[in-house]
Amino acid sequence: MTAPVPVIAIDGPSASGKGTVAERVAQALGFHYLDSGALYRLTALAALQRGEPLDDAQKLAGRAAALEIAFRDGRTWLSGQDVTEALRTEEMGVAASQVAAHPEVRARLLERQRAFRQPPGLVADGRDMGSVVFPDAPLKVFLTAAVETRAQRRHKQLMEKGMYAKMPDVVEELRKRDARDTNRPVAPLKHYSDAIFLDTTNISVDEAVASVLEEWRNRAAR
Ligand code: CDP
Repeated sequence: MTAPVPVIAIDGPSASGKGTVAERVAQALGFHYLDSGALYRLTALAALQRGEPLDDAQKLAGRAAALEIAFRDGRTWLSGQDVTEALRTEEMGVAASQVAAHPEVRARLLERQRAFRQPPGLVADGRDMGSVVFPDAPLKVFLTAAVETRAQRRHKQLMEKGMYAKMPDVVEELRKRDARDTNRPVAPLKHYSDAIFLDTTNISVDEAVASVLEEWRNRAAR
């Protein structure tokens, strides 16, 4: 029997820095990287482009199954169209969170996500990477930070992209998104006991990356 391809699963709430940390860990180890949120954002975008509602679970599931996606040179393509910028807006994050609450959509995206598990390894980030998609991942991390810190990070990101936003609105949006992702019955955002808890409120990205890499090396040495 060959050993399964290793996965590092990084779960956590919005703006916790999990995407940046996951990408950097993947780079350091030469592993593939899965930004699972992008699949929910793409499903939302595909529906919105056609003027379809975000509460029609069956139709959305069909969209999720039929997505024609390519990730190339740091850009994301949907049906041959470069949608990189359109995907990263706050509106698309909120739409993704609505789409992601439908179990039918999650079921359709499951196999697509698992297909990213290719040698030599995968670092995957999202809300349910360790809990649902890769439950056998040898390393699971729950990456979080205080909501005010996450809001400051998101605010900075938005301003850098030229998107004006007021701090109190950003905090409010994050709280709403946390509530929707945490309270949904299917694949809720949660720190499970088999994941190490990493609070980045008072640590830098470099320190968070170093800490995940150290855990990984410690496990490999056992
Ligand atoms: O950067 P941020 O964490 O805000 O966004 P994202 O990772 O792109 O996820 C957008 C939304 O998709 C989240 O609010 C979740 O509701 C949903 N999502 C999910 O349910 N499961 C995942 N594995 C990834 C994202």
